[in-house]
Amino acid sequence: MLGGMKIRTATAADWAAIWPFQREIVAAGETFSWPRDVSEEQARQFWMVPPPGRTVVAVDDDGTVLGTANLVANHMGPASHIASASFMVDPAHAGRGVGRALGEHIFQQARADGYRAMQFNAVVETNERAVHLWRSLGMEIVATLPEGFRHPVHGYIGLHIMYRLL
Ligand SMILES: CC(C)(COP(=O)(O)OP(=O)(O)OC[C@H]1O[C@@H](n2cnc3c(N)ncnc32)[C@H](O)[C@@H]1OP(=O)(O)O)[C@@H](O)C(=O)NCCC(=O)NCCS
Repeated sequence: MLGGMKIRTATAADWAAIWPFQREIVAAGETFSWPRDVSEEQARQFWMVPPPGRTVVAVDDDGTVLGTANLVANHMGPASHIASASFMVDPAHAGRGVGRALGEHIFQQARADGYRAMQFNAVVETNERAVHLWRSLGMEIVATLPEGFRHPVHGYIGLHIMYRLL
């Protein structure tokens, strides 16, 4: 983890720092199954999830937002003990351990919130950094949806569902 970085609950005031890099990641169309031209208001609603969901930010010691994640229930009723989570690290700060720190934090938070399992619904197979990171945190590929993702460079490629018990 980066020295001085901390992870805290996101506030409404953090949105202005999240949106520029979130827009960049979504517009690239390589890692998220959101509309590439998502509006700011729709993105805010997708990302800043209401309780009991949680949205967090990773911030540097000067307060710069480096990345963000959210935690939600993936299912309802008798499957509501399965969580899901999403992650976005500012490309300007990628590869420095922010994603790993957010992942570790979210797994701990999910356990604390009483979830028993974690499911990632849509991990693009060419997103090698993410696949490596999630595997190293105990997530397994339980299925790959053939041609589940239309990548701007690679065309129709696999979309992994990843899962682990907590
Ligand atoms: C995926 C993402 C969250 C990772 O965050 P990050 O801060 O860059 O990741 P970290 O620096 O914590 O860790 C990256 C790991 O991937 C490894 N890695 C980097 N590039 C890699 C590559 N091309 N292939 C395999 N592993 C790679 C790093 O070595 C590191 O692993 P290590 O800790 O074992 O050395 C971030 O890149 C991101 O937001 N991407 C765009 C959105 C996205 O893909 N979200 C996740 C969707 S499932």
